[in-house]
Amino acid sequence: MPIDFKGLHVVTFESRKADEMAELIRQAGGKPVIAPSMRAIQDIIDWDTGCADFVLFTSATQVRHVFQVAKMDGVERQLLEAFKHVCIGSVGPIASRAITEQGLTVDYEPDTPKMAHLVREMARRGSDLLDKKRTAFANGVDTGKWRRIDMVWQPGVGGQPTIKDSVFMKACRRERVPYTPIWIMRQAGRYQREYVRVRKEVTMLELCKSPEVAAEMTLMPVDRLGVDAAIIFSDILFVTEPMGLNLEFVKGEGPVIHNPVRTRKDVDRLNDPDVNELVYVFDALKITRRALRPDIGLIGFAGAPFTIASYMIEGGKSDHYVRTKTMMYRDNATWHALMERLTKILTEYLNGQIAAGADAVQVFDSWVGSLSPDDYRRFVMPHVKRLIDGIDKSAPVIHFSTGNPALLPLMKEAGGDVIGLDWRSDLADAWSVLGDDVAVMGNMDPVVLYTSPKEIRAQVQAILDKAAGRPGHIFNLGHGILPDMPPENVAELVDAVHELSAR
Ligand code: CP3
Repeated sequence: MPIDFKGLHVVTFESRKADEMAELIRQAGGKPVIAPSMRAIQDIIDWDTGCADFVLFTSATQVRHVFQVAKMDGVERQLLEAFKHVCIGSVGPIASRAITEQGLTVDYEPDTPKMAHLVREMARRGSDLLDKKRTAFANGVDTGKWRRIDMVWQPGVGGQPTIKDSVFMKACRRERVPYTPIWIMRQAGRYQREYVRVRKEVTMLELCKSPEVAAEMTLMPVDRLGVDAAIIFSDILFVTEPMGLNLEFVKGEGPVIHNPVRTRKDVDRLNDPDVNELVYVFDALKITRRALRPDIGLIGFAGAPFTIASYMIEGGKSDHYVRTKTMMYRDNATWHALMERLTKILTEYLNGQIAAGADAVQVFDSWVGSLSPDDYRRFVMPHVKRLIDGIDKSAPVIHFSTGNPALLPLMKEAGGDVIGLDWRSDLADAWSVLGDDVAVMGNMDPVVLYTSPKEIRAQVQAILDKAAGRPGHIFNLGHGILPDMPPENVAELVDAVHELSAR
């Protein structure tokens, strides 16, 4: 997506930096409207005559002043009403708080609180955000908050797209697409200020168990980055709770299970889980699907049995999976009993997610790369195969692992419409081993995002060259975004993939 306001009107307010602002807006392809508050207010109220599309606030004082003037002139209600149809940008958290205090919602705040970032990023995402606000808002329920989840689409109505138009879904099915779709593992996370702000107020467990908040977090990276799919904000370890395990996300340490499963007795003591205990995930999917642009795919997910079992047995993250592998080698019957229990609930869980609105599902076998091919075939593959065979065929399955390219042919044998590669594989080689009857996802080294736009573009081009325009490539990193990655480089990655792959 080029950085371009497409000649639309960008309203800002008179200030010391007005000239600089006007120049930035002009450079980004917009028509700057710099006006004293009263005239700006009139332009916003008259938005439908085409004189205001975006309004950018660069300070809290500005916000308060505008509303004071509107109140004095008796047009405060009209102004609030008009703000439902123009896109509101705010330079940073202090201005955003002032906007929120007026009962409005900020449509875009850059992660870096600088004027130039606000203008650039608003220009980059502006037309989508405006389209969403003007089309989807009208269908929503006016809760007075107008959060992302309150803007609701009506697929197919009045020219609105449908999921059939989704570039991501077409690529999953190896159909031809106008450009390579991209989404990014951990696209909602700590590298974003907005995420950190929300996490200051709620724990990871509370966030994921509040469907409206989880849906907001799922939608946020789509608004900010322009990715082609959303992944539901949740975690692979929640399935362990209905089985009777005591899960906690410990700051700085990651997930911990306080009552790990280590013996036959432990396995036998596991609850016969009711998948409806995970209804908060299903609810989050339902809310997200209504509010997500209809041509953007919604991905549900689960951990694969091995990866979940490793947390259940070790009680947390592990370097060598000693307890896990010891159970696997020494206590075969217990191992298979545990894997069977897991496979059953994971199948029900993924089908529940599809019923709730997931268009595709990803199976994360993040830690299975620690196994040899023979052990994978013996101890893991039958369970993964049963899991994937049991998933509703209406949704494509992405089957992902890391760390061991030697497992790829076996993973394909186990199943999946798309195989997810980490960066250790050469994409061209891996795809020729897998064969053309499967799509592939991947596979840039996440660490490239610490470098520069130039390096990012070069690496994107190299991966696109390896995919060589074959249908069925979905761009992603080889593993998730890290918490301290520069958000502007993440945006650069999305733009680079879209621009360099355009056919
Ligand atoms: O990709 C997404 O944006 C969707 C959300 C998502 C999360 N976890 C959110 C999360 C997904 C798909 C996962 C899957 C997951 N969780 C995996 C498989 C994917 C992978 O990365 O291999 C695994 C192994 C887990 C287990 C897990 N959950 C770990 C190891 C951690 C700690 C990581 C860390 O950096 O602290 C989590 C916590 C977690 N899950 C966070 C997020 C955003 C961080 C929570 C926070 O502190 O705010």
